[in-house]
Amino acid sequence: MITPYEHSEAGKKQQVADMFNNISGKYDFLNHFLSFGIDLIWRKKAISLLKDMKPRKMLDVATGTGDFALESLRILKSDHIIGIDISQGMLDIALKKIEERSLSDRFRVEVGDAENLSFESNSFDAVTVAFGVRNFENLQIGLNEICRVLKPGGRAVILEFSNPKAFPIKQLYRFYSKHILPRIGKIFSKDNRAYTYLPESISQFPDGESFSQLLKNAGFKTAQSRPQTFGICTIYVGVK
Ligand SMILES: C[S@@+](CC[C@H](N)C(=O)[O-])C[C@H]1O[C@@H](n2cnc3c(N)ncnc32)[C@H](O)[C@@H]1O
Repeated sequence: MITPYEHSEAGKKQQVADMFNNISGKYDFLNHFLSFGIDLIWRKKAISLLKDMKPRKMLDVATGTGDFALESLRILKSDHIIGIDISQGMLDIALKKIEERSLSDRFRVEVGDAENLSFESNSFDAVTVAFGVRNFENLQIGLNEICRVLKPGGRAVILEFSNPKAFPIKQLYRFYSKHILPRIGKIFSKDNRAYTYLPESISQFPDGESFSQLLKNAGFKTAQSRPQTFGICTIYVGVK
């Protein structure tokens, strides 16, 4: 199993929480900087796939600093969204944004584990996850939980990095993620491992059909994958 801190005795979940607590202050900046801002386009596109169903009650799993949930509120105008995350440091940044934008009546965040959601079954119209599933300790259990809390007919939209397959993007991307991204990430985040763990965890993560199969195993009736930008990232849509 790929974990952030190879020599740590802690389990993956604790290591992931520690890592995001360490880098929370620099997370938003590095996200947009290291992706050349393309992540903003992916986020918008992913959320737009929920427009036709007009979800009213939503859950954003692994909400982090809250950007995906905030974008959902802006695009979908949902009544209410709950964001959960295991990192209090990331949620503190989300809370600041909620206060600054006076959104506390529509967006609430709480500490919570994707693999053991504290919500009743069949409660949400839509569940979103951006760049979160790769960090779960047990991916299948996390996906089972997402399916459980969705209402029948509800939709999960999951955005995650994937591995480009075609020449020369595959080679260019590998060079960038192995040699450039970890160096820039280390300088700004001051965490030696966070941006080395990132490409390592992407390269080992199931994508495309393999990920769609996990969604079906979780109980989704249909699961679609839509590769973005030469397959650097993929949007998955599961319908319960
Ligand atoms: C790369 S960040 C993504 C944050 C945000 N969704 C975004 O789009 O920027 C991944 C987040 O997943 C959270 N996370 C990892 N494992 C989790 C789990 N089992 N349950 C809840 N959150 C988790 C981390 O704490 C971190 O905030």
